[in-house]
Amino acid sequence: MRIDILTLFPSMFVGPFDTSMLKKAKDNLLVEIYVHDIREYTFDKHRVVDDYPYGGGPGMVMKAEPIYTAIGDIKKDLRTKVVLTTPQGRVYNQELAWELARTEQLIIIAGHYEGVDERVTELVDEEISIGDYVLTGGEIPAMVLVDSVVRLLPGVLGGEEAAEDDSFATGLLEGPQYTRPEVFEGMSVPEVLLSGHHANIARWRREQALRRTKERRPDLLEKAILSQQDIDFLKKLED
Ligand code: ADE
Repeated sequence: MRIDILTLFPSMFVGPFDTSMLKKAKDNLLVEIYVHDIREYTFDKHRVVDDYPYGGGPGMVMKAEPIYTAIGDIKKDLRTKVVLTTPQGRVYNQELAWELARTEQLIIIAGHYEGVDERVTELVDEEISIGDYVLTGGEIPAMVLVDSVVRLLPGVLGGEEAAEDDSFATGLLEGPQYTRPEVFEGMSVPEVLLSGHHANIARWRREQALRRTKERRPDLLEKAILSQQDIDFLKKLED
């Protein structure tokens, strides 16, 4: 997969894309990531990327021309998906992450200032918001998209941490995890995890996931795929 990011602040991406999983994915050629400075696509003397809004009002608006020029230059294929990060977009979730992960080329425009000239949306396949709060710009949302998409690409996660087991992939939140020591500050690791009995451990984990999801995100249970045993367990929690 190839990901291109259009931004006014390319230096913001230096740290996050050069550490941990994203670095490994790039080093192993599982993804190519290119960060483009929108200013490089201006041809006027002052390299202007924003301007006052028609009709007045506070703030500046990102100009359409440099973004059109950049996309014209970068877009490889008709199937390339172009997304714009904006608080006005479709709210991001795991399902949308899988959708983006299936594209050969993803172009992310990091929106900024008070907005982007509406004519840019002609080039955009999806406007995406990472949640109902407002950030100073679209760079952090762009990083969120990249991180969540790259970890879904084949080979990025090791077999044991496979993305298919994620909470949200199973439709449930994950249950509690423990590591050594067995007793810490008087708090013990649940007996069953020390038992070595794999079926009991799997059942216990499933029940913890069900319990936690019911307590914290009951809305997720409505879409989760549940066995009769799961349904019986959830019923028992109500007694
Ligand atoms: N730009 C500013 N806030 C945003 C948000 N919540 N999601 C996407 N882009 C944004």
